[in-house]
Amino acid sequence: MEIVILPTPEECASIGGRIIANLIKRKSDAVLGLATGSTPIPLYSELAKIHKDEGLSFSKITTFNLDEYIGLPGDHPCSYQFFMKEELFDKIDISLGSTHIPNGEAEDIENECLEYEQAIKSSGGIDLQVLGIGSDGHIGFNEPGSSLGSRTRIKTLTGKTIEDNARFFDNPSQVPRHCITMGVGTIMDSASLVLFAFGESKAEIISKAFEGPVSAMVPASVLQLHPKVRVIVDDAAASNLSNIDYYKEVYANKPDWQE
Ligand code: PGA
Repeated sequence: MEIVILPTPEECASIGGRIIANLIKRKSDAVLGLATGSTPIPLYSELAKIHKDEGLSFSKITTFNLDEYIGLPGDHPCSYQFFMKEELFDKIDISLGSTHIPNGEAEDIENECLEYEQAIKSSGGIDLQVLGIGSDGHIGFNEPGSSLGSRTRIKTLTGKTIEDNARFFDNPSQVPRHCITMGVGTIMDSASLVLFAFGESKAEIISKAFEGPVSAMVPASVLQLHPKVRVIVDDAAASNLSNIDYYKEVYANKPDWQE
């Protein structure tokens, strides 16, 4: 597990953009797992910039998003389908047919979840999964208490998540109560993962998740068991970690061969 601490979200996004660009240069048909929320917005701006300034092509990649609200149509401004088009897909040369977001309007949600799992498998699996972290420790929408082996399924959002996400809606009562999310086990199947967190509001959960015990009550803590995880945080989100000097020392002295 590599913990990278940089002063600002923009610097974190710049490293994240480079990691993804290097992957696509190595493997033009890479499979990316994508996230929504405020956190990945600077990363997506960075990818759009790399596409525009350096001509990096996304035309052969496939993407799978972590989650979607149940009951919001794809053209609803708070749906994750809408978010992804606005923040990334419309700004790069990706083929929309190669992007996948769970269908929160599916009639048979259980079948939608099974098909989503199958589609990930058929793509050959996710090479790199982008993650944010909820202030309650969720990854995707796997709320505290989620099985660490869970697969894509319906989840009920916690009151805390509804409160956190109310800022995107006109009124907290409009935040859907249910979602489809990749499971913790689905996320852990990715070949590599990059989790981003910014701001003081994430400081406590970042230390719990990465310096505390592995627990279903902090779903992000399971990433401690994955062999290829980067946690990229700004100074504010890192402020509660006890080993800050060591993480900075490791990063500053990283040998070239370690990429
Ligand atoms: P945020 O959400 O990026 O909007 O803070 C993160 C998450 O809920 O995973």
